[in-house]
Amino acid sequence: MTTGEIQVIRGLADVYFDRTESSFIDGKKGVLLYRGYNIHDLADNSTFEETSYLLIHGSLPTRSQLAEFDAQLRSSREIPDEIVGIIRAVKASHPMDVLRTAVSALSAYDPDAGDNSHEATLRKGLRLTAQVPTIVMTHYAIREGRQPVAPRSDLNHATNFLYMFAGEVPDEDTASLMDKDFILHAEHGSNASSFTARVVIGTNADIHGAITAAIASLSGPAHGGAAEGVMKMALEIGEPENAARYVKDLLSEGGRVMGFGHRVYRAEDPRARHLRAGVQKLSEDVGEPKWFGILEAVIEAMQPYARRGIHVNVDFFAGVIYYLNGIPEDLFVPIFAVGRMPGWVLQVLEQQQNNILLRPRLVYTGPEEQPYVPIEQR
Ligand SMILES: CC(C)(COP(=O)(O)OP(=O)(O)OC[C@H]1O[C@@H](n2cnc3c(N)ncnc32)[C@H](O)[C@@H]1OP(=O)(O)O)[C@@H](O)C(=O)NCCC(=O)NCCS
Repeated sequence: MTTGEIQVIRGLADVYFDRTESSFIDGKKGVLLYRGYNIHDLADNSTFEETSYLLIHGSLPTRSQLAEFDAQLRSSREIPDEIVGIIRAVKASHPMDVLRTAVSALSAYDPDAGDNSHEATLRKGLRLTAQVPTIVMTHYAIREGRQPVAPRSDLNHATNFLYMFAGEVPDEDTASLMDKDFILHAEHGSNASSFTARVVIGTNADIHGAITAAIASLSGPAHGGAAEGVMKMALEIGEPENAARYVKDLLSEGGRVMGFGHRVYRAEDPRARHLRAGVQKLSEDVGEPKWFGILEAVIEAMQPYARRGIHVNVDFFAGVIYYLNGIPEDLFVPIFAVGRMPGWVLQVLEQQQNNILLRPRLVYTGPEEQPYVPIEQR
């Protein structure tokens, strides 16, 4: 839309507002690189800890760098009792709201509170990356009426996450699929939540504020909530043979198929294929291949939309993986947040290093200047 000489770009679509060394996306070709490394190589060969180091520090770590980084994460998982008390107080809220509240409150207990230097922000970012899974699972246990499962420092990030969920150490395949899921969600340029974090940092506010705001931004269905929506859809479809009719009816009512479409990708989201293989194997392993069948039937039904650039995105397969692990639907977005932590930390640090206030403008379309009418005369 053009208003006089002013061009309004609603949603800031395709607007470049800065430069980044974080990640590269070619939406037409379906390419995603973290710090120059292809997401396929990382998903096949890396770990969440190594990918987090890469994102936050800019290069792949040596063995000793990785060991030190991992040790920092493992030793920072505990959360103060006061935070557990806050979680108890707000336990009836959605897990994303609880996470947002707890992360905000954590700033009061952080040893680097008030210090926004690069070094302190980095330390706070690592602590938050380690603490976010503990918050999510502490809340989960409390609302289930159980004692929270304390994090274990002898387990890696993904294994410890599932351990805190179930109270037992998961098998290697399950843990490694969760690890892959975290890698695939770790970073994605100036998506809505990372942009939100940058806006907060742009005012020289601190990382706890930025991550709190990013969590709020991620909680909406157009961003993080799609995995939950896909699972709801799969449950409603029920059997693969119902998928075509379901999709047709949904689209004819102007509805959107969750897990399809993306603001940037016009080709298939390169992250999706790694989780597709995971869903296929997991649904066969647990003796419920119909879930994979339902998703494949939805893809088939959406074929005509592929021509318009609407393909599966990363969230299409993620939800079913969580579901088959027994994870309740409202924990799906918090899992996305656990994975996205290193990306948010990176975006915060990068914004801080070359900071600028992010302050676009709105074209005013309200009434012209008018006289103030005293309340008695209205
Ligand atoms: C992600 C999303 C918000 C991106 O939207 P966007 O770039 O702003 O694109 P638009 O909303 O302008 O959609 C463009 C067109 O594609 C259609 N479209 C986009 N996603 C669609 C979907 N999932 N199902 C059906 N149609 C879709 C729109 O209806 C619109 O059609 P129109 O031009 O005839 O009105 C959108 O694709 C969506 O809502 N997807 C479902 C939710 C989801 O999976 N989100 C997770 C993203 S990782």
